Amino acid sequence: MRVVIPVDGKCELAQRRIPEPKNGDVLIEIYATALNRADTLIRAGKYPGPPSDEPEILGLECAGRISGLPPNGSSLGFRVGDRVMTLLNCGGYAEYVCQDERMLMRVSDSLSLYKAGGIPETWLTSYQLLFWNATVKKGDQVLVHAAASGIGTTAVQLCLGVGAVPYATASSLEKLHTVAALGVDGEHCFSRKGDKPWDECLMEVLKAHNKSGIDTVLDPVGGSYAVQNAKVLGLDSSWVLFGLMGGVAMDFEGAGSPPFLATILRKRIRLMGTTLKTRSLDYKIKLTQDLVEHCSDKWADGTYKPFCDDRQFKLEDAQEAHEYMEANLNVGKLIIVVREDADERALLCGGTPKV
Ligand SMILES: NC(=O)c1ccc[n+]([C@@H]2O[C@H](COP(=O)([O-])OP(=O)(O)OC[C@H]3O[C@@H](n4cnc5c(N)ncnc54)[C@H](OP(=O)(O)O)[C@@H]3O)[C@@H](O)[C@H]2O)c1
Repeated sequence: MRVVIPVDGKCELAQRRIPEPKNGDVLIEIYATALNRADTLIRAGKYPGPPSDEPEILGLECAGRISGLPPNGSSLGFRVGDRVMTLLNCGGYAEYVCQDERMLMRVSDSLSLYKAGGIPETWLTSYQLLFWNATVKKGDQVLVHAAASGIGTTAVQLCLGVGAVPYATASSLEKLHTVAALGVDGEHCFSRKGDKPWDECLMEVLKAHNKSGIDTVLDPVGGSYAVQNAKVLGLDSSWVLFGLMGGVAMDFEGAGSPPFLATILRKRIRLMGTTLKTRSLDYKIKLTQDLVEHCSDKWADGTYKPFCDDRQFKLEDAQEAHEYMEANLNVGKLIIVVREDADERALLCGGTPKV
């Protein structure tokens, strides 16, 4: 089968044997997979952890059809041909992968395998950040940074789904328009590259609505936003740190910023770091079950819309896809089509397979 592996810091196409399912594993024929930032770090040899932990085949998620069952049969009633999607430890940029059947999510008929290929990592992470790490509920004010990203487009929908109020930052008006189209109030969308700092704009809006601060920040940025996050967070709020795209060094230069730790203490802010990839299998299985319970009807009826970038790539274009993501050009998920018929519905309708 064709696979993509990292070679000297670049994605390279290679051939490998189709894996055989062991007890409890099914074999999936992959129709679509998707990019995650972690893929770009793993490819470049920069993902934290010992080198021996680095996977040979890239890819943390996929959607496809079951093409082989465990030697003793499926204990969960899966059959050959079933449409499924799953989070993976590695191996998504390939034509086949083996996976523990307890990690599978069924894909409804109304959802294409193309879109499903970009669901698992982003939706599991966002769900975990909002409802396991933080405890977001109806009426909460939630700030989602990089809101047009894979995680961001998902997190704002999950906020709206439970009646929380999302606020968003992104780098361009075009990206913010996309976020507003997902249902975020245009007044709550802030450019990180505008003339006025996003935190000042946000505080003005909060004040106009008699709100003293944000209840939860979902933060993939880290260092460069730390002081501003502490400023906009309210009393007894949560700050969930899940990425470091803005570096590890905090910028304390802002004139008039109160001492950082004093702000954390005084506002009783709960600052928590989290990584999904390093969690146990049991944790991921339970998270998968919770996500399915919360989302499957809403994915099927279109309330929740897995959001994909207009660009789509093939396995042989993986390096180009990585460079597109590293240039911050994607809006939503970047899909790698493994089988041409991944977007079954669009092909049936004669449409263009994309978002
Ligand atoms: N901890 C976990 O379990 C976990 C799981 C999944 C993902 N993550 C992390 O979550 C982050 C987002 O992942 P993703 O897959 O959604 O990525 P993505 O779709 O590639 O989006 C990332 C976006 O972040 C924004 N950005 C980049 N550099 C920035 C900076 N210096 N300051 C502010 N914004 C910046 C850019 O959007 P703008 O152009 O709008 O600024 C970029 O498009 C990554 O850091 C990833 O590693 C963590």
